[in-house]
Amino acid sequence: MLEKDVEARGLWSSKFGFILAAAGSAIGLGNIWRFPYTTGQNGGGAFLVLYLICIILLGLPIMIAELAIGRHSRRDPVGAFEVIRPGSPWKLIGYMGVTTGICILSYYSVLAGYTVGYIGKSLAGNSTSYEAFTSNPLVSIPLFLAFIVITVLVVQGGVKNGIERWARILMPTLMVLLVILIIRSITLKGAGEGLAFYFKPDFSKVTGSTVLAALGQAFFSLSLGMGAMITYGSYLSKDDNLVASGCYVAFFDTLIAVMAGLLIFPAIFAMNMSPDEGPGLVFKVLPRIFGLIPGGRIVGAFFFILLSIAALTSTISLLEVVTSYLVDEKHWLRRKAVWIVAAVTFLLGLPAALSQEGMVPWLAKLPGLGTSFLGFMDWLFGNIMLGIGAVFIAIFTGWVWKKEISSKELREGFPGFDRIAPVLFFLLRFFCPVVILIVLFFIFKAGV
Ligand code: PHE
Repeated sequence: MLEKDVEARGLWSSKFGFILAAAGSAIGLGNIWRFPYTTGQNGGGAFLVLYLICIILLGLPIMIAELAIGRHSRRDPVGAFEVIRPGSPWKLIGYMGVTTGICILSYYSVLAGYTVGYIGKSLAGNSTSYEAFTSNPLVSIPLFLAFIVITVLVVQGGVKNGIERWARILMPTLMVLLVILIIRSITLKGAGEGLAFYFKPDFSKVTGSTVLAALGQAFFSLSLGMGAMITYGSYLSKDDNLVASGCYVAFFDTLIAVMAGLLIFPAIFAMNMSPDEGPGLVFKVLPRIFGLIPGGRIVGAFFFILLSIAALTSTISLLEVVTSYLVDEKHWLRRKAVWIVAAVTFLLGLPAALSQEGMVPWLAKLPGLGTSFLGFMDWLFGNIMLGIGAVFIAIFTGWVWKKEISSKELREGFPGFDRIAPVLFFLLRFFCPVVILIVLFFIFKAGV
């Protein structure tokens, strides 16, 4: 692609802008909603250890691979595989990513809608329970719709003006507020037990499904396995160091997740709640923490504003994957692409919005599966499909893409790349595919 076409397609305005936008994609409900409840369901400390291992040994190499594929091809996930291996079935991985993107976006926006609702709920000091709140379709559906529309409005603005500008201010503010809340949580009476649950691993609780949960959580949280980082990498300039950028993003993402655990678990134990409550966990605990802080209503509202924005920078990246595909490959206008995808997402998300207890019983407990429709979507797309996508991306980068070319791409902006190349290629060629395939195999063998 010519320099001027690359410019016209859009580039991040600076290195820092990219890191913030990619961290914005990574940091979201995955860290603050999904990580604590998954950790709580999987026994605490041991899960944390597995999760950290997955981030370093599986997440980081795949993150770097995705960024390299994106920057090299300067295309959306489908086009990227087509540029590197023209006419091959590899572009199916791109199609799979685009589909997974829409599916995650659908239920993710439902949850993001709850987050927005909790802003008002905190401000008003309204004590409706989580269950009552989420099972009222007159509240949850308009909020869900509103969230999709906001996402569309930002993505319509394109890379620089839309996505980057938001991430720049808001991510750092979220971090500061988390620190303040953690201090409150760990100074509660009885907090020590929560800290022990979170930091003292008990490996006797680890099973195959714990390992899948850790692996899925690592990919979900880093936005990997579906081409989000291919898309964001496609707007990176050749001066950027892909390895360092990937490390920064993974570091901040993991830091926020670990901080969220540090906020939630001491409070859960101090309040005699159970850590394995499931998806409602964070929405139930947080308001109680705010209740213990002077000016709690305002602090609570402010926290949910920031969380909504963190969710927004993630939904933006999910929508951007699909949009970039329609713009690059189908030559649709950006404006048309975003609205049509939004309409499809809304329809797909409706059953998830209606799957809370008390609304549509068979959606709340899918026949034969026992989970809610939302839980099922999160399991299928947020764990399994991301895992499958990640395996193929590792195999593609390790075995199919010519090593001289991928290494050349990675050397741009990082002249010292050859020093770490053996480790990276070992992980991509052998470690990632073998480990992920073993885990997926056991899951399929054990059934849903
Ligand atoms: N990483 C985001 C989060 O943690 C979710 C996400 C997954 C975004 C996959 C893009 C792609 O909230």
